[in-house]
Amino acid sequence: MGICQSDCFSGLKDALDSRPKQKRKILMLFGPPGAGKGTQAPKIVDMLTVPQLSTGDMLREAVAAGTEVGKRAKEVMASGGLVSDDIVIGIIADRIKARDCKNGFILDGFPRTVVQACALDELLNKSGEVVSRVVSFDIPHGVLETRICGRWIHKASGRSYHVSFAPPKSMKLLPDGRPDPGTMKDDATGEALMQRADDTAEALKKRLSDYDSETVPILQRYDERGVVRRVNANQAMEVVWEETKAGILN
Ligand code: AP5
Repeated sequence: MGICQSDCFSGLKDALDSRPKQKRKILMLFGPPGAGKGTQAPKIVDMLTVPQLSTGDMLREAVAAGTEVGKRAKEVMASGGLVSDDIVIGIIADRIKARDCKNGFILDGFPRTVVQACALDELLNKSGEVVSRVVSFDIPHGVLETRICGRWIHKASGRSYHVSFAPPKSMKLLPDGRPDPGTMKDDATGEALMQRADDTAEALKKRLSDYDSETVPILQRYDERGVVRRVNANQAMEVVWEETKAGILN
């Protein structure tokens, strides 16, 4: 994949106007760790019937399976750092060719750097496509530690829970008020929930710092194309969903 050219976005803008309406819906979820991308994504999948492509989920699967990619990604992910561009670009380049992406897909956690954004544009440009909508989950950083440190996930499905805001039905508390880990079970399957290795206050600092320096600049570029819709993610989940739905449909 070529190095990003500084004018790659502006060059694309001219091409956009003359483009016929594309067939695939290509949606991007944008926001800091804990903003609620993974929480809202399953509802978007149901609404649009296109798959969610979460690079975080794909990388965690690779780590769990002990693949070469997983071995390269494991430590950097646990510390809250970004996995190298070549790895994630390679993963997405393969994934968006899969049959289940024939009507479109939802990018969750990709792109995260300007290099990744340019690589995505190059990939889509080959098939005459562009990102059709970016939903930006806007939220103050100050509320994210509580969200991240209280999160439990169901590994197989990626379903997200929270000890205070979205507890699993099975949750029981210990005398000191913390959740009893043995009672943290997925509502749908009854399987055990887990906490992510990078869901610590320490790793969150690094994740937020990378988000601000590497990822936020991407949004401005999509803003210039008029495809960004902003959602106030610091509200009840149902209200966030209403705004998300409106942002996608309008
Ligand atoms: P990834 O898995 O993408 O994590 P992230 O972007 O840090 O996002 P999160 O999953 O933490 O946040 P979310 O917005 O989905 O939050 P959620 O909905 O669960 O990436 C992990 C790592 O993989 C990266 O750090 C990096 O190392 C690597 N990686 C991945 N992609 C990469 C790339 N492209 N390039 C390089 N490296 C890459 O919500 C959080 C909690 O809040 C939950 O408990 C939820 O129940 C609760 N919650 C959600 N909404 C609300 C609400 N409205 N009110 C109250 N609580 C809420």
